[in-house]
Amino acid sequence: MSASKAINNRRTFGIISHPDAGKTTLTEKLLLFGGAIQVAGAVKSNKIKRTATSDFMEIERQRGISVATSVMAFEYRDLQINILDTPGHQDFAEDTYRTLTAVDSVIVVIDVAKGVESQTEKLVNVCRMRNTPIIVFINKLDREGQDAIDLLDEVEQKLGLNVCPLSWPVGMGQRFKGVFNMFEEKLVLFQPHGKQTEADIIEITDLSDERLDKNVGKAAADELRSELEMVTEVYPAFDKEAYLKGQLSPVFFGSAINNFGVKELLDCFVEIAPGPLARSAEEREVRPEEDVFSGFIFKIHANMDPKHRDRIAFLRICSGTFNRNTNYLHVRQNRKIKFANPTSFMASKKTVIDEAYPGDVIGLYDSGNFKIGDTLTDGEALHFKGIPSFSPELFRYVENADPLKSKQLNKGLDQLMDEGLAQLFTMELNGRKIIGTVGALQFDVIQYRLLHEYGASCTFEPVNLYKACWVSTSDKEALKAFVSRRKKDLAKDKNGNLVYMAESAWALKMAQENHPEIQFHFTDEW
Ligand code: G4P
Repeated sequence: MSASKAINNRRTFGIISHPDAGKTTLTEKLLLFGGAIQVAGAVKSNKIKRTATSDFMEIERQRGISVATSVMAFEYRDLQINILDTPGHQDFAEDTYRTLTAVDSVIVVIDVAKGVESQTEKLVNVCRMRNTPIIVFINKLDREGQDAIDLLDEVEQKLGLNVCPLSWPVGMGQRFKGVFNMFEEKLVLFQPHGKQTEADIIEITDLSDERLDKNVGKAAADELRSELEMVTEVYPAFDKEAYLKGQLSPVFFGSAINNFGVKELLDCFVEIAPGPLARSAEEREVRPEEDVFSGFIFKIHANMDPKHRDRIAFLRICSGTFNRNTNYLHVRQNRKIKFANPTSFMASKKTVIDEAYPGDVIGLYDSGNFKIGDTLTDGEALHFKGIPSFSPELFRYVENADPLKSKQLNKGLDQLMDEGLAQLFTMELNGRKIIGTVGALQFDVIQYRLLHEYGASCTFEPVNLYKACWVSTSDKEALKAFVSRRKKDLAKDKNGNLVYMAESAWALKMAQENHPEIQFHFTDEW
């Protein structure tokens, strides 16, 4: 296949939602349409159940599932569609933020009864920062939920999105009759359990058409007519350019479990969703149609078998063609490296591939060469931006519990940090190590994996910290003064960058006031 054809037919996206809104169910139905799986239930939920905080076997099992479902590729209407999976558990939110750097668009799933929930807000914020095009799918219309207009108000207010409904529900819960698809001007009648047939799809270009009344009843038809009249007045018309700029979000309604409204969503997605987009590197913008290859690592997954310490690094291809057994520059290590068994994840089967194109995500076997954010190129020293570490929310001292195994502990910690499981800070004053995470679950995972994969034991001790702030300044004298006055609060991150460990919001405010020449950042990329 020519590279330009391959670029044009790739659609790489992520599905995001608050846990339980229906992300896994929707993913599965999309894969069924693409023929990537044959039976429902083939995609296992990758969520770590909230009750499982101390169930380590569950964590291990989930890790296994999440390797298999990291990328799910399928073909639909001559396009290759790559769904990148995002962890459902909020303690792993940073994993999701990073995965969002590798997609070109997203679908947000919202539960019609629960409306916009906290995790959805956080994830959509990250997408908005990057102007990622967003389609909204309101799920579970087979249940009673919020009024559609109220819900869209909530989406606009809480998520800061401008919405444009492309389908509209006819009733909900017990009274759910179907949706009117404004994108394709069709009435689609609801049948539970995916039993919909061609006869349930009725083309209606004029809302006064009597078939509307005949199929959903006069009262529901009239309600639909008046709601649609209002919808066209209140919401902007669909504008593909605005969607592609991340300024307008089409909305669909449906019920994933009943496979209802999913095909309409997919058909619209393939019409409007962007192919591989340009990516910013520190040096320049990199366009997918460039001849020279480049890509970045956004996720690293450790092998679950402790006897085989290799890992899979997930590479998003940004430009050019990636070829098997070809030397590429590992920019951070400044050395050439080639891959004998790069894998793709087509149809949920792992296969070794000879080449891959922009938009594709491939798995590279790694024996410890990669960190999250690493760049591979044909030779140019590029550094892709937008894969920052965020300040953790929770901090604990990590202590070696077995003095004979300190080498194993250090190696284990190093590798787990490279995977992006958590962040390690080393205090300047006494060399004590602090681990920072987004959620409490990661501490359990770290302890468990250190023991089972590296034979090292550790304990955690409380430390009272509010934020880790990366510091920068062009004023060398000011930095010297700051370092000497704040020595006890300073640490180095895994890359040797200076970090101010603020004890409280107040301490941070004081530091900012007393050292106006110093900039404090909540991410390591600014
Ligand atoms: P998630 O990945 O976003 O966390 O959600 P998931 O798809 O696992 O769905 C969460 C629950 O919501 C599941 O029920 C699923 O069956 C249900 N669900 C998904 N779509 C719909 C829908 O359109 N209508 C209704 N009524 N329910 C829906 P569960 O009982 O938690 O799990 P399971 O035992 O059914 O697997």
